[in-house]
Amino acid sequence: MNALGIDIGGTGIKGAPVNVETGELLAERFRIPTPQPALPNAVADVVEQIARHFNYSGPAGITFPAIIKKGVVYSATNVDKSWIGTDAAELFRSHVGGPVTVVNDADAAGIAEMHFGAGRGRRGVVILLTFGTGIGSAIFHDGKLLPNSELGHIQIRGKDVEKRASEKVREDKGLSWKKWAGRVSDYLAYLEKLFSPDLFIIGGGVSNKSEKFLPFLTARTEVIVEPAQMRNEAGIIGAACLAIHPEGSMPTV
Ligand code: BGC
Repeated sequence: MNALGIDIGGTGIKGAPVNVETGELLAERFRIPTPQPALPNAVADVVEQIARHFNYSGPAGITFPAIIKKGVVYSATNVDKSWIGTDAAELFRSHVGGPVTVVNDADAAGIAEMHFGAGRGRRGVVILLTFGTGIGSAIFHDGKLLPNSELGHIQIRGKDVEKRASEKVREDKGLSWKKWAGRVSDYLAYLEKLFSPDLFIIGGGVSNKSEKFLPFLTARTEVIVEPAQMRNEAGIIGAACLAIHPEGSMPTV
């Protein structure tokens, strides 16, 4: 089975058709910069251009960096507030034609990692964290997703952890890798207290610099940084999978 996967990020919107059985991209991924301001109609126009580029009209899975329930956007931390209450699935469907599934970006990346990447075959509690503009999370138990977990908004020292330890904060504040890794270690320790996970997977923009922070990272739990081949594609692949196997009905690994 094939589906189109599209990953909507703060700087770029990327897509490709995906074989959801193997997780392979069926064509080179196509990227268009995210329109600024990233208002719903402007983003939907870009989504349409990506579908057109592949001459595509079947099912599509699309990620969005917010809480998504039944296609509707419920939060807007790092996106324009006008998205709140928008039926994104309906908006995108009206632009691409075929059936559309919209899913949280980290949940989509997690689905891809559990099926084709670092989490493959891993049972127990697995937590994927993406460090980029914000911090995204996906929690799995025995391969099954608990959607919309939003662990980037847990507060540490009175502040959302994504305001202390995202990749953007590291860059904006010029934090040393040691200092940043210390903040991430505090965060992992806190998540260990809450969830007793069996594995953390670290993804997002920061994962291609693992040699800089891994030496400073401490955790009781095993930590894997997402493998290189998945870094730019996890969202696309996971979204395409969820277009075929809607939320909650993804076969367990
Ligand atoms: C949002 C999440 C999103 C994460 C990563 C957070 O600010 O609340 O929904 O998954 O950023 O993009």
